[in-house]
Amino acid sequence: MKAAVCDRYGPPEVVQIREVPTPAPADGEVLIKAAATTVNSGDARVRALRVPRGLGLAVRLRFGLTQPKQPIFGFEVAGQVEAVGTGVTRFQRGDRVVASRGLDLGCHAEYVTVAEQGAIATIPATLTEQDAVALCFGGATALHFLDRGQVAAGENVLINGASGAVGTMAVQLAKHRGAEVTGVCSAANAELVRSLGADHVIDYTAEDFTRNGQRYDVILDNQGKATYARVKGSLAPGGRVLMIYGDLLPTIAASWQKAVVSGTARPTADHLRTVVSLAEQSVLKPVIDSVLPFAQIVEAHRRVDTGHKVGSVVLTFA
Ligand SMILES: NC(=O)c1ccc[n+]([C@@H]2O[C@H](COP(=O)([O-])OP(=O)(O)OC[C@H]3O[C@@H](n4cnc5c(N)ncnc54)[C@H](OP(=O)(O)O)[C@@H]3O)[C@@H](O)[C@H]2O)c1
Repeated sequence: MKAAVCDRYGPPEVVQIREVPTPAPADGEVLIKAAATTVNSGDARVRALRVPRGLGLAVRLRFGLTQPKQPIFGFEVAGQVEAVGTGVTRFQRGDRVVASRGLDLGCHAEYVTVAEQGAIATIPATLTEQDAVALCFGGATALHFLDRGQVAAGENVLINGASGAVGTMAVQLAKHRGAEVTGVCSAANAELVRSLGADHVIDYTAEDFTRNGQRYDVILDNQGKATYARVKGSLAPGGRVLMIYGDLLPTIAASWQKAVVSGTARPTADHLRTVVSLAEQSVLKPVIDSVLPFAQIVEAHRRVDTGHKVGSVVLTFA
């Protein structure tokens, strides 16, 4: 099969499409023939080792000290079940599924194995594979943090970085919970963020949300800008900061605060079932920056590297 192989850290050009052996499903595993995958901010960060300050060594220990231990990147895949391993009962050949291998990666390939008990869900008939895969990364991350932050109806929630993969899902999911949502994005994306349900939009190039006198019950930051020290004055009593991305020292400094939620999201089957079901009900809209053929994966990495994609960059397989 063809896979995008990355056997050293570096710029987008280190990613090369090569022939590699097609995996076979082990006991309890499902083999998926890929129809669509994404290049997400996580892929680009690991590829370039562009990680929060202070976490370089930890990331190298996790992903490979001098070169990637798992040379095939890719967090998520959507496609058809091609075969199942012994003991698999919930899926069968031909089922349309979306799955995430999370930090185990391996989804930039024509065939991908996923544990039946892992993060895998059936794609509803009304949803395309491209839509389903575009919901995964941002949807699972947003659900993980909104749950841990116990975001509830009537709360005032600010999403810093409202136009990326995580932000576009967080805006919609917070709104769906009945929160009053403020999205922080550039003017170019204001209309989109409003159309996703944001009640208020702040242009980060023109206004600093930490200095506008507003108080929020929840500040979700995926831009590494909302250290606790910087935003505590913008929190209402009982307010929480959901630090999706942040440097090590400010994160440690804030970790004794009950008000701060940080760490890494682990996509689950529940997350995927929730996002595809909400999309089926037209509650959640997949936001797709661009769709490229798998052969153009280097171009996809370049787009993600700009830091200005809107939603997800999707790759399709012939
Ligand atoms: N902790 C976890 O488990 C976890 C999970 C997933 C992701 N993450 C991290 O979360 C971050 C967001 O991920 P993502 O996939 O959503 O990223 P993304 O899609 O690449 O984000 C791109 C968006 O960020 C916006 N942006 C850039 N600078 C901004 C600023 N100063 N203020 C507000 N918005 C700004 C851009 O809008 P403009 O073009 O208008 O600037 C663009 O639409 C990444 O750093 C990722 O590594 C962490």
